Amino acid sequence: MKTNSSPILLFVFSLGVCHSTFALWPIPRSLQTGSTLVKLSSGFDIQVNGISKVPQDLQDAISRTKTRLRSDKHQRLVVGRGATDSAALTHAPSLSKLTLSLTPSAGGTVNPIMQEATKDIAKRTESYSLTLPSSNGGIATITASSSLGLFRGLTTFEQLWYDDSTGVTYTYQAPVTITNDSPAFPYRGFMLDTSRNFFAVSDIKRTLDAMSMVKMSQFHWHVTDSQSFPLTVPGFPELAQKGAYSTQEIYSSADVQDIVTYAGTRGIDVLVEIDTPGHTAIISTSHPEHIACAQATPWESFANEPPAGQLRLASAATTNFTASLITSIAKTLPSTLFSTGGDELNVNCYTQDSQTQTDLKASGKTLEQALDTFTQATHGALKAIGKTPVVWEEMALEHNVTLSNQTVVMVWISSQNAAAVAAKGLRLVHGPSDFFYLDCGAGEWIGNDPTANSWCDPFKSWQKAYTFDPLANLTAKEIPLVLGGEQLLWAEQSSPQNLDSIVWPRAAASAEIFWTGAKLPDGSAVNVLSALPRLHDLRFRMVQRGINAIALQPQWCALRDGACNID
Ligand SMILES: *[C@@H]1O[C@H](CO)[C@@H](O)[C@H](O)[C@H]1NC(C)=O
Ligand SMILES: *[C@@H]1O[C@H](CO)[C@@H](O)[C@H](O)[C@H]1NC(C)=O
Ligand SMILES: *[C@@H]1O[C@H](CO)[C@@H](O)[C@H](O)[C@H]1NC(C)=O
Ligand SMILES: *[C@@H]1O[C@H](CO)[C@@H](O)[C@H](O)[C@H]1NC(C)=O
Repeated sequence: MKTNSSPILLFVFSLGVCHSTFALWPIPRSLQTGSTLVKLSSGFDIQVNGISKVPQDLQDAISRTKTRLRSDKHQRLVVGRGATDSAALTHAPSLSKLTLSLTPSAGGTVNPIMQEATKDIAKRTESYSLTLPSSNGGIATITASSSLGLFRGLTTFEQLWYDDSTGVTYTYQAPVTITNDSPAFPYRGFMLDTSRNFFAVSDIKRTLDAMSMVKMSQFHWHVTDSQSFPLTVPGFPELAQKGAYSTQEIYSSADVQDIVTYAGTRGIDVLVEIDTPGHTAIISTSHPEHIACAQATPWESFANEPPAGQLRLASAATTNFTASLITSIAKTLPSTLFSTGGDELNVNCYTQDSQTQTDLKASGKTLEQALDTFTQATHGALKAIGKTPVVWEEMALEHNVTLSNQTVVMVWISSQNAAAVAAKGLRLVHGPSDFFYLDCGAGEWIGNDPTANSWCDPFKSWQKAYTFDPLANLTAKEIPLVLGGEQLLWAEQSSPQNLDSIVWPRAAASAEIFWTGAKLPDGSAVNVLSALPRLHDLRFRMVQRGINAIALQPQWCALRDGACNID
């Protein structure tokens, strides 16, 4: 008989449901909770204690938190939803206030959140502590030594609250104590490609909102590629005028500042990438003199995807043009990081390009030596304006290019390549296609190949991403070289219409891996079983906030933790 109704089994089942932990995502690295229901009092307020001048972006963040505590209307994921708590809430204690204050080391002053979030990746302070008492009329606290830490604490605080369906806002696991929660890795990112298809500023802002909910710190903006050049670069307006899909599909300089400010005030640094010398075919529309094998056919002989075209890296004029282009945009950006790309260089394109061959002959250099000269020029120009170069892994592993030890290398081809990058003593960010590519598994997009799959099949589920180990096969000495990681959306088959659904809640998986690290607050290893109910909760909360995050399971399962697992 399958329906065993022994009292012992029933007890175990209900205990499991009651013990579903808070739906915090990423889960804090230290967390203690009780089981008392606490309501938000009608006069609830958030106050800042002992900070001489509260930065405007911190004031704005506090206002947003106050609004969301009332507007989220997110009901607990249990059978009967919020209504199951209504009766018990009648006599529940209420919270009167949340105070934000600085640790003594901060000396009473803070910088704006944006200033903290855009600091050198190795120098950001995100840690905070949080308490929420279960006494009636109690006061919750968040303390941190920076505005960014206070902001991360506010983000956690927002995730503690639920709606009971009659308008009562409450938390159900008071008292709560979080001590010095801080990220395991500083780089917790998401990459968006806005060249294959265009995304409006509003789509990017909605994505930044979702990233901020899961304490991501880095938006990697792969803004240009071979198909379109949607970016206005000061001094180079012709690139977008001739290279964008339309005049409507261009990020103006004002749009760029709008995006980096929106991100920065939400704790996110923007790493802009101008991919070079490959992935640049579109530049031929305004500067044919700088592009080799522009739209050469068959494209398969000259590039990894159509259209073919790469910067003439052996040309002094092209090198100068590229260095000027990169510094012109980089110097308008607050981030210290800037990516010069460097993936998928096609050698045949240069072999077939008579000008490149002439340039190589004149200089007496091999193609690899010319690539080194080109890279020294672009990276040297970036360093001259105080920026740290970022490159794709081929620059470190496949080419003979000298990279300064400050360079950040993005590992994308395979997770197994991270160890080789670390062995060279270079800092790295994990973005491996075998775990973190969000576009895999959607079929081939090449037009006349009806039966093929995507090159990186299969689809990378949230569970797959969640099992990623950032420290696999690294020595203790190499571990500090790991800055973190990111999930990535290449947009050949994406557009604003599927942006939210292809990214969320999947991309939250790496946000937790790189914030929480290998262990849950109780010391056990992170695992998909305990992550699932919290990820459901995050997804429902995202939907409340206008992010079209997709369901992970039937709602029946989301309301019954564990009931849809395999025994
Ligand atoms: C490009 O060339 C011009 C003229 O020779 C020079 O003034 C400028 O500094 C060069 N720019 C870069 C980034 O090398
Ligand atoms: C890189 O340089 C080494 C030593 O100079 C040489 O043996 C190797 O062939 C070069 N690799 C490429 C791809 O040019
Ligand atoms: C890079 O090298 C310099 C000089 O050798 C050294 O001082 C610095 O600590 C190194 N940086 C990294 C990130 O290894
Ligand atoms: C780590 O090493 C093992 C054994 O060589 C290998 O099977 C695995 O794929 C490696 N993982 C990564 C992420 O490098």
